Amino acid sequence: MKEIEKLERKEKLSYIELDNIFTGYLNNKIDDEEMTKVLKLICKNDLTDEETINLTDIFIKSGQTLPINISFVDKHSTGGVGDKTTLIVLPILASLGVRISKMSGKALEYTGGTIDKLDSIGVKTSLTKEEFYNAIGETNMVISCQTDNLCPLDKKVYALRDVTGTTKSIPLIASSIMSKKIASGAGKILIDIKVGKGALIENKKQAKRLANLMIKIGNKYDRKVICMLTRMDNPLGSNIGNRLEIEEAIDILKNHKNNDLRTLAVEMASIMYAFNKNCTIDKARENVIRVLKNNDAYNKLISYIEFEGGKIEDSKDEPIEIKSLKSGYVKSINSRIIGETSMLLGAGRINKDDKIDYDAGVVLVKNVGDYVKTGDVICKLYGKEIPYNKIYEAYKFSIIKPFKKNIIIKVIE
Ligand code: URA
Repeated sequence: MKEIEKLERKEKLSYIELDNIFTGYLNNKIDDEEMTKVLKLICKNDLTDEETINLTDIFIKSGQTLPINISFVDKHSTGGVGDKTTLIVLPILASLGVRISKMSGKALEYTGGTIDKLDSIGVKTSLTKEEFYNAIGETNMVISCQTDNLCPLDKKVYALRDVTGTTKSIPLIASSIMSKKIASGAGKILIDIKVGKGALIENKKQAKRLANLMIKIGNKYDRKVICMLTRMDNPLGSNIGNRLEIEEAIDILKNHKNNDLRTLAVEMASIMYAFNKNCTIDKARENVIRVLKNNDAYNKLISYIEFEGGKIEDSKDEPIEIKSLKSGYVKSINSRIIGETSMLLGAGRINKDDKIDYDAGVVLVKNVGDYVKTGDVICKLYGKEIPYNKIYEAYKFSIIKPFKKNIIIKVIE
């Protein structure tokens, strides 16, 4: 194909040439093997901003689009280990009267996906246009996967990227995220760009490029975009794995836990509330904390789960307890190792069509900053039997209590 040859020669592709490749893939004129070659070339050679904007437009036009609604706020994360903020932020905002939607994906590599988490408790996530609006009308919130109607091209490309090691390209991430946000009609969009060892984006320079690119794409379609750069060196919170993450989100909503996950969710919800209601961030934070304390946000999540046919059940598996071989303060926990372990336990897909074990995953009993004695249980593993020596490599100890860095690095708008 002449377009692929051009990519190989690192030449710029026109709108039509990109369309021939990508829409050709959607229409099965290009097979998985050829498309993998394209994705690998993009990862290696990059795309210009103009090509990325064109690619976003091709993704958007591959399906139906909903009209822009300026009061619609949407939130998205580039994906991290243990990231269940959506399950906390959406009910907080919905309980405060903000209408909020999320178009979401399944897990990418070792980072979990919100859709898989909701699937684990039977919540319907594949929604028609009518069902999407019904949920918003009834509960103020909705979480929906890329359906065959909205961005079907992203759905197909995303699944292939997941199993071909082509997740880390900035143009591919920007076009994938922004096409879904724009097609779903969101007028205001907040994107949490995870930065660090357990994230798709490993350093601040790349994160800033991605932020500026997504803001530029948003502006082209008259959307207001805010990007938060947040740390993902250690897993977020203590539960990793689908049903386990739902349990932790509920603990935060019931105001039973205070950790980095809560800090991030409160800040994110506050920025989004201020963004939507045009108030100060302090006023927004006051409201957010109120609905966490009075259980309004918790009740909102439960009513959404029930509205979409889901049910919360405790996981029944017996875990394997991992006991520490060392003593000291936990200095860091490598989120990539934890994410990969969780995937091997059955919580993620190694191949495109693998079935997920929704109960599988890791619970970090000891987290960064905690003191551990030799023999203390540091974490629990749920799922398949696997060789678990690697988990010891995830935990790093020090004799002095580590300095705690703020989970939020920067907000760009
Ligand atoms: N989330 C998306 O929707 N797409 C990506 O490429 C990465 C994270």
